[in-house]
Amino acid sequence: MTVTVVLKLGGSVVTDKETPETVDDDALDAVVADIAAADVPRLALVHGGGSFGHHQAETHGVTRTEGSHDAAGVWAIHDAMRRLNDEVVRRLQAAGVPALPVRPFSVGARDAEAALSFPLDSTATMLEEGFVPVLHGDVIAHAGAGATIISGDELVTRLAGGLDADRVGLCSTVPGVYDGDGEVIPEITAFETVADALGGSESTDVTGGMAAKVRALLELGAPAHVFGPDALAAFLDGDAAGTVISG
Ligand code: IPE
Repeated sequence: MTVTVVLKLGGSVVTDKETPETVDDDALDAVVADIAAADVPRLALVHGGGSFGHHQAETHGVTRTEGSHDAAGVWAIHDAMRRLNDEVVRRLQAAGVPALPVRPFSVGARDAEAALSFPLDSTATMLEEGFVPVLHGDVIAHAGAGATIISGDELVTRLAGGLDADRVGLCSTVPGVYDGDGEVIPEITAFETVADALGGSESTDVTGGMAAKVRALLELGAPAHVFGPDALAAFLDGDAAGTVISG
């Protein structure tokens, strides 16, 4: 069986979050080296916005729910993400990885109820042809709202389900999901068991907080590993990394 892996590189891993529109050279090179050294037959990558997307989104007042009809602002956000994506793809190719971009802005849309339509033809065909598609958090046309943000995490959810992924990895700057004592939880199979540590099951965090993230990952249908950059090579080798979340 050919294993399909979906991996998100958090924006805080590949960019210097303190300085607008700055790549974290060493961190990105390390991640690229791990991906180049790995032997994953079908790998789809997603990266976040870090100091590229979030900075522009803030400047133009665009969030996942607050849209904009200002074409210049929407383009500024997309263009910042495009430039970061260029850099990621360029370095992957330089390391021998057959990476190619997929621009979510040109692929998907949200309807008036904010439901996402995101055809996977281009991504799936690239995988079939041996390429490594590289998607990114982006702006996306949104019925009634102009354009809103689509996060890398939403794309991971879409890809994991739509590509029937066997494993999902979320590489961020934290080594896993912490319990109440600040220790990494090795495995989560039900939200109730970690609700207290994550701020309670009543938490309605929709801004990307850990509680919302864990809940979404429990629904994926494939085990999701939440880990830091040091564990990326192990994850790509097929080993358990950080916190393994499977519902
Ligand atoms: C954000 O993507 C994309 C934009 C702001 C355009 P993510 O929300 O996935 O980015 P990170 O990983 O948190 O930086």
